[in-house]
Amino acid sequence: MLEYTNTEPIHLKFFNKWISVDPRTILIDDFKFQNVPSDTLVAYSIKDENANKGIALLSGKIVKEVNNGTLWSDKKDQNVPTFSTFDRSLGIRGSRFSPGTEEFFSKGLKNILRKRGLFLKNECSDSGVCLAFGKETKRIKRHFNDFVDLKYAISPVKSFGSASNNGFVNQIKYERDGYKAKAILKSTTKQDSDNLLFEYLVGQYINKQCLVFPCFIETYGWYIYNTDTDWDFMSKKSGKTTIEILKSSLEIGQVALQKYVETQVSTGGNFCVNDKHKLPPVERDCTEIESLFKFACENSQYLAILTQHINNAKSLHSMIISSTDVDFPYHDLLNVLYQIYMPLSTLAETFTHYDFHLLNTLIYEPVVGKYIDYKYKFIDKTIPPVKFKCRYMAKIIDYGRSFFNDTSNKEITGNSNSIYETICENIRECNGGGKNGLPLNYCGEDQGFSNFDTSKYGIGHYIDSSFRNITHDLLLLYRVKKLLKRPSLSHKLSNPLLQTIFDRSKYANELLSEAEELKTGVVRYEYGSPELYDTNPLIDGMPEKIDNVIDAHNALKTQVIKNKTDNASYYQTMTSLGKLKIYESGKPMKFKPK
Ligand SMILES: Nc1ncnc2c1ncn2[C@@H]1O[C@H](COP(=O)(O)OP(=O)(O)OP(=O)(O)O)[C@@H](O)[C@H]1O
Ligand SMILES: [Mg+2]
Repeated sequence: MLEYTNTEPIHLKFFNKWISVDPRTILIDDFKFQNVPSDTLVAYSIKDENANKGIALLSGKIVKEVNNGTLWSDKKDQNVPTFSTFDRSLGIRGSRFSPGTEEFFSKGLKNILRKRGLFLKNECSDSGVCLAFGKETKRIKRHFNDFVDLKYAISPVKSFGSASNNGFVNQIKYERDGYKAKAILKSTTKQDSDNLLFEYLVGQYINKQCLVFPCFIETYGWYIYNTDTDWDFMSKKSGKTTIEILKSSLEIGQVALQKYVETQVSTGGNFCVNDKHKLPPVERDCTEIESLFKFACENSQYLAILTQHINNAKSLHSMIISSTDVDFPYHDLLNVLYQIYMPLSTLAETFTHYDFHLLNTLIYEPVVGKYIDYKYKFIDKTIPPVKFKCRYMAKIIDYGRSFFNDTSNKEITGNSNSIYETICENIRECNGGGKNGLPLNYCGEDQGFSNFDTSKYGIGHYIDSSFRNITHDLLLLYRVKKLLKRPSLSHKLSNPLLQTIFDRSKYANELLSEAEELKTGVVRYEYGSPELYDTNPLIDGMPEKIDNVIDAHNALKTQVIKNKTDNASYYQTMTSLGKLKIYESGKPMKFKPK
């Protein structure tokens, strides 16, 4: 959804009446043209602040420039003609209509929406499956107003999974014109739990990767609980509640932020300091981004984010230990690990998950009894593509501690290091530390940024969300290996090809803790590793040691190729759901259903 950011009034034909509105009070639902030539007539489906829908017609004389969603108006000429096209994606290509009467609009709009509902039901009967493959994502999201305003959300709202140390999770259902979808609402349990605005910002980078790799989930939006009572009710509520209660408990983040800034300005409190270490501090007005951080730190306990839902998801942990699919460790674990480490290796310089345990990888089976033909293609055309069949799709969740660097976003919000630097240097509200005997200037400690600059707490499991660590995410591979060693799982044969990989990977002090474990009988785990940056050369396709995600990908690639015959015979009796092509180059993935 695009939002007007220009404050000049703009002139809209809203149903049959011309009105001038403050552009900050409307949202453009649908945006068709990247560059609108100055003589084009453009129609937008819009929503006003009360969520009333309408069509806004803007003439070329008014639209001078469209740039990153910001519309610039020309006050001189307010005489606006009223023709345009609407929603080309529905096949009403180039058709033009006159705004005519209110009746035309309500009928015309209804027809278009019904058509979209029908199209989705035919082409994509299960929205969850389509979203998982990145198919018709735009159309599905548009059908549900991008999910975030909860307009099409229905009761009941279920509490989901078990409330963890960090947060609680709800499942939200949507229905419109008979078409259904679900989303996940993740909220915080404590003021100093991982800050969900930060997770939302990581999510904006991951959203771009969702177009390329199938192993990530999309982040749709962020919210804030209206009051402590609202938050308290939702955090204690197990079972079900109504959508009305949830809606009255939450405010969309951007809307709440706007109100917050207005209040701050009117009470004279909208200032940031230039450098908290300089005395006396230089006070100045906060920028938009600084106000956002200020707000997110003051209210860290009341933040929530909305993300893509994975239907019937099992954690990697439960897939290995349970008997849902006893063949999983032998036949599919290798394929699932490939789906994870290929993208992590490709993104090694720009993304580290840092909380990569067995519960943060979900295993999704899109259509029971059908497999996906995966094909990974490489930039270097001399490297043959990696192909395998697998009925599962791995989905990595929980980006609240991740390092990211979105090289195409030069804003402060484009990388985790500049976010942390900004909150530390300029935002006092993010500097209320001092718990656990730590000095007050350990910034972000109590506002959910304690995974940054962890050197101050001692070892910190080598997590520092400000910096890349291409070894840390081998945690998952290590935990898989450790889990499969449990005597109670001895009947679950792990594939010998996988065993070779386990044998070559020693995570952090694994050898020491294993020796200790043998001596004392007490199970010991590694929680993180320093970075080992140098990639090991390959001998017969295998790195001698697996020190980082790049080594892991190289090793898995070789083993997946060796597994080809077994993989084909294992899936011989099943049918294919379709072909999924994934590109190392960053080109969007392609799914071709059978
Ligand atoms: N998109 C999703 N689809 C389905 N289930 C989900 C999804 N996201 C989260 N869950 C469920 O909710 C649980 C908690 O979510 P998440 O890991 O994001 O939160 P967390 O509180 O930060 O977890 P922790 O700190 O324990 O790792 C997950 O382990 C999973 O069972
Ligand atoms: Mg988790």
